[in-house]
Amino acid sequence: MGMKSDIKLIDENGLRIDGRKPDELRPIKIEAGVLKRADGSAYVEWGKNKILAAVYGPREAHPRHLQDSTKAIIQCRYNMAPFSVSDRKRPGPDRRSVEISKIISEAFESVIMTELFPRSSIDVFIEVLQANAGTRCAGITAAAVALADAGVPMKDLVVGVAAGKVDDTVVLDLGKEEDNYGQADVPMAIVPRTGDIVLLQMDGDMTEEELFKAMDMSMEAAKYIYELQKDALRRRYAVIAQEEKEEIESIEEGIE
Ligand code: CDP
Repeated sequence: MGMKSDIKLIDENGLRIDGRKPDELRPIKIEAGVLKRADGSAYVEWGKNKILAAVYGPREAHPRHLQDSTKAIIQCRYNMAPFSVSDRKRPGPDRRSVEISKIISEAFESVIMTELFPRSSIDVFIEVLQANAGTRCAGITAAAVALADAGVPMKDLVVGVAAGKVDDTVVLDLGKEEDNYGQADVPMAIVPRTGDIVLLQMDGDMTEEELFKAMDMSMEAAKYIYELQKDALRRRYAVIAQEEKEEIESIEEGIE
């Protein structure tokens, strides 16, 4: 990242290595409520990324010295499975994952109504099962759905999405080769309803004009990803409603 490389990332038709147009996302699938034991959960496939998010809480924060008497604390842990990358990743936290965990926690602090839960902790686990560039954005997108599935009160969902620059072209949602050989990558977390930006990072370099173009592309894409998140939650609520109906029916049968 940073230098223009000799590897051709945009072909003569203006298409990218995987055939996408500059402003095209990889395919995204979202499912809510995939884990029984967590308070909320979600599974996201985003291109070749596979990511699971689980939420516990709000629950009493432990150890107690972590407690804030005015609001809940958000503790996010982003973790890459050893088998998620091509060279086996050494298990456990490293500098990169500690930093990503911190910035994702901060992004969610902007939307979660933490003041409703003093002395509590809301724990968000992001497990990267398969990585192929853009895992922090896919992880944020999954975590937002898991938080909503857990019933954690939020001002809105949060969407993670990146744009950047490859072969002197501004592109949306960089794939692995583009991440390795591209010129810039700008991951963002966006609150779709307000357009607020709650996370913004930049790796590489681009002009101010290119940066604004990249941010516009991500804003536009965030609206689409937001709809996928809400669809996943609607499907989840339909399943819960059906399960409750069946439970009531079986209780009624027992009474008769
Ligand atoms: O995944 P994201 O783009 O948010 O973060 P990155 O640090 O820019 O990493 C880009 C990609 O590099 C990841 O998605 C992985 O595919 C790969 N990677 C890896 O192979 N081994 C690592 N220890 C970290 C990242």
